[in-house]
Amino acid sequence: MSNANILLGVNIDHIATLRQARYREAGTELKEIVEPDPIALAMQSEEAGADGITVHPREDERHIQRSDVVELRQRIRTRLNMEMAATESMLAFALEVSPDSICLVPENREEVTTEGGLDVVGNFERVRSIVAAAAETGIATSLFVDPDPDQVEASAKTNAKYIELHTGAYANAYHTPFRSKEYNRLVEGSKQAIEQGLIVNAGHGINYVNIEEVRGIPNLNELNIGHSIISRAVEVGLSNAVREMKSLILGGC
Ligand code: PXP
Repeated sequence: MSNANILLGVNIDHIATLRQARYREAGTELKEIVEPDPIALAMQSEEAGADGITVHPREDERHIQRSDVVELRQRIRTRLNMEMAATESMLAFALEVSPDSICLVPENREEVTTEGGLDVVGNFERVRSIVAAAAETGIATSLFVDPDPDQVEASAKTNAKYIELHTGAYANAYHTPFRSKEYNRLVEGSKQAIEQGLIVNAGHGINYVNIEEVRGIPNLNELNIGHSIISRAVEVGLSNAVREMKSLILGGC
């Protein structure tokens, strides 16, 4: 697969984080003044060229709420990708909302954002059963994994349709001597995944600088990007931030 048409999934969790910072306790009577509105901004992202919207409802609902996900499902016109912990309760919610895809991620309450990939090897049966339950209702599953050969191989064995390669270690190493080592791990992980029948997405820490190199990882289907786009939106507006990233992904400048 060439990288000519890599898709962009915009992760809108940070928009909800901002809303929750002020309006955590707001009831529905305040709906008109509660801002920013993640639903409206998800739709704006789509208008600006996003190919999908990604959300990560957490157990503690500290940013996106379950009610947001339900509303997004009804209102967005592209694809809804729901990141989730590999738990029974999140699976039940996913089956109720029916996103186009789910992406299983590790989750604990203390982390600020997702850290490290999912341990598919160590949780194989649980992951495989979630993949099967989701597939039964037409939901495709992605597994957020480090570019580790054992994790990639185990991912393929779960019958998941996608993996999302964790680009965080590469992004953190960008200004260090370890950058090329981390980049090569992503390249090799992607090659292995394709050989084993997986579709390859990638995400975490991708920004307006490293995208030029990230887009060169072979076989990429989609990039899921949140922090850098929402941060840039503060300066230039969300539509411009999405358009600019989409253009960089496609090789523009
Ligand atoms: N993909 C996954 C699985 C994630 O957990 C996150 C972070 O929420 C992202 C992509 C987006 O990462 P960032 O906000 O650094 O772009």
